[in-house]
Amino acid sequence: MQKTELKKLLESMSLQEKIDQMLQLVGSFYSEDTDEVLTGPESELGITDEDVRMAGSIEGTYGAQYLMELQKSYMEKQPHHIPMLFMMDVIHGMKTIFPIPLGQAAAFEPELSKRCASAAAKEAAVSGLHVTFAPMVDLVRDARWGRVMESGGEDPFLSSRLAQAQVEGFQGKDMSEPYKVCACVKHFAGYGAAQAGREYHTVELSEHTLRDFYLPAYKAGIDAGSGMVMTAFNTLNGIPASTNKWLMRDVLRDEMGFDGVLVSDFSAIAETVVHGHSEDLKDAAKKALEAGVDIDMMSGAYAANLSTLVKEGAVDEAFIDESVMRILELKNKLGLFENPYKDADPEKEKTVILCDEHRQLAGEAAAKSFVLLKNEGVLPVDTSKKTAFIGPYTNNKEIKSSWAFIGDSQDCVTIEEAAREVFDLTRTTFHAGSPVLGNDDAQALKGFAEKLPDPVPEEMQLSMLKEAVQAAKEADTVIMPLGEYYLQSGEATSRAMLDIPDVQMRLFREVAKVNENIIVVLFNGRPLDLREISRKAKAVLEVWLPGTEGGHAIVDVLTGKVNPSGKLPMSFPYCVGQIPVHYNEYSTGRPYQPGMQARYLSKYLDIPNTPLYPFGYGMSYTDFEISPVTLSGETVTEKTSITAAVTVKNTGTLSGTQTLQLYIQDVSASVVRPVKELKGFQKTELAPGEEATVQFVIEEPMLRFLRADGTVGSEDGRFRLWIGDSSDTENAAGFMLKREM
Ligand code: GLC
Repeated sequence: MQKTELKKLLESMSLQEKIDQMLQLVGSFYSEDTDEVLTGPESELGITDEDVRMAGSIEGTYGAQYLMELQKSYMEKQPHHIPMLFMMDVIHGMKTIFPIPLGQAAAFEPELSKRCASAAAKEAAVSGLHVTFAPMVDLVRDARWGRVMESGGEDPFLSSRLAQAQVEGFQGKDMSEPYKVCACVKHFAGYGAAQAGREYHTVELSEHTLRDFYLPAYKAGIDAGSGMVMTAFNTLNGIPASTNKWLMRDVLRDEMGFDGVLVSDFSAIAETVVHGHSEDLKDAAKKALEAGVDIDMMSGAYAANLSTLVKEGAVDEAFIDESVMRILELKNKLGLFENPYKDADPEKEKTVILCDEHRQLAGEAAAKSFVLLKNEGVLPVDTSKKTAFIGPYTNNKEIKSSWAFIGDSQDCVTIEEAAREVFDLTRTTFHAGSPVLGNDDAQALKGFAEKLPDPVPEEMQLSMLKEAVQAAKEADTVIMPLGEYYLQSGEATSRAMLDIPDVQMRLFREVAKVNENIIVVLFNGRPLDLREISRKAKAVLEVWLPGTEGGHAIVDVLTGKVNPSGKLPMSFPYCVGQIPVHYNEYSTGRPYQPGMQARYLSKYLDIPNTPLYPFGYGMSYTDFEISPVTLSGETVTEKTSITAAVTVKNTGTLSGTQTLQLYIQDVSASVVRPVKELKGFQKTELAPGEEATVQFVIEEPMLRFLRADGTVGSEDGRFRLWIGDSSDTENAAGFMLKREM
């Protein structure tokens, strides 16, 4: 439809018809018989059956046949034949589940995430969906917050590249194209900085920190063309995001140029009353509308109050027209006026969903997401030796995340299923050894909608333990798949202790007493406290929550068919007390380096400053030599760049991939700058003995930041740069920036 036609359509709509477009409900308001709505739930929201019947969008329902019927019956009732929008959380896969976003970030391969998003979009589109509430691009520095699993990690540069890649994967160049859906960058803004890592908690960020660290990834997703942005639940410096005019109008719309649809998070508009920013729902509706929130997800504030607010002259109807025009434009961008069913296709659902191509991609992405944290000569495993798999993730299909609820765990390949295809089964045994959760851990998850594991009586646990220890005694190598339960990360899963469940640690300790050749395969949605595991195991392979093809990918890496290449996108703290810990910190005036004896330094009495495993770290089965950095010049100007280069050589016996990372420090500036900032990365695959030169162009724009005078730009002076295989690289060089030359 042309813009002029949209304008005419808007002008032909009544106030109520416009407000209907701004209401989003969950699918459970609609019965299987799509001609009727379920009465009852709307009473909690203070809205009418008619409101429900005319809601402009629903979220949380999928299925081609059902959504086609729902759309048909909606369009028949809709006085202007405006189609409904169908939205859903397709975060890291629809039915084919890819690694959690934090795991995808560990691949340091945005193109891979783009491919995963594109495959997810295809499965979502044939299932009748138009919008996915992804990518989540909140920067994170606190592993106590359960939603770090959805993020791109602690670095603005990496998170930005992933945000862009996922938006492009979901939307393509034109979201009306087949098998594309509209992306939704979320949660704007700063949600990942929740105080003390406690879910939905207060966020206080200086404008400097907000702009230099937290905003870039949202901007990257918006610059990539994201059709939607979602508000965050939190207050930002005292004002809830959903009613924060400065954040939503000045920053998001005016500065970032976002002209798409702004949807509130679930009931977030109503929650501004609870925050203490809105007097009541009516006030909340006024404030959110004036802040530019276009769709009210499930709070009812708009549906129940906007008409009255306009009639009382308390809000200008122009705000409503502006929002509804953006909603109509989005439906138009998706081509829904021409084809309200878009790609919904019950037949295609059968062939596209979980197709071999998607499964292969899921396996590739999983293997590339794994990070080898430790290996003292026990990996790759020798499959001819006696091997015991001991751990509750040995044959556990729950290896997708709490945000992959559309996927079916039964479609996931377990380690045991994959190992039985490869290992010598006369010399390999498989034992759970313990439940995933102790009964007290399960208590903490009470109230979750999902089914929790059945409690295992203590005597059964002891019997499992006894069997496992015996198996460990008889084995040459013990592979221990351990980790968090999948519901211990994701929304509303903040944890103050970052431990692997005690019941598993008991198993680990007992096995370690009888066999020193332990390889831990770690399943988790967030960095954990790995001190004891790292101390006692000979190898630790981080596999996150790897998704549908997890078992195959893990066995491919354990056996050396695939050489692990992942790098940590988020620091693993030495312990919880060290949090927040992130590589791109500031120097302080009294920086501490390991070994310094002086007392008055920025350090702890009882733990090191450095994390257990730093950002950017990850081992390989082969060895790489990285040469000192060479520079093509000493000075960068506004018009001239220099090139920094290293030669990387595979000095080992196996092919492998190394990720060279470029870090830069602005040594002194009007506002202190981080000791290192990631400004580039390149993956290079090398055969044994092969070498390659890896180059990075250093140019003025990459040196810009929010200066003391409030402007964004670079400042002349000294810079240091590093090129290495982790953020703790010491492979350094120096250069100058002289803008006017
Ligand atoms: C949730 C989440 C958000 C999600 C939305 C819809 O509360 O915060 O990320 O997209 O509700 O499910």
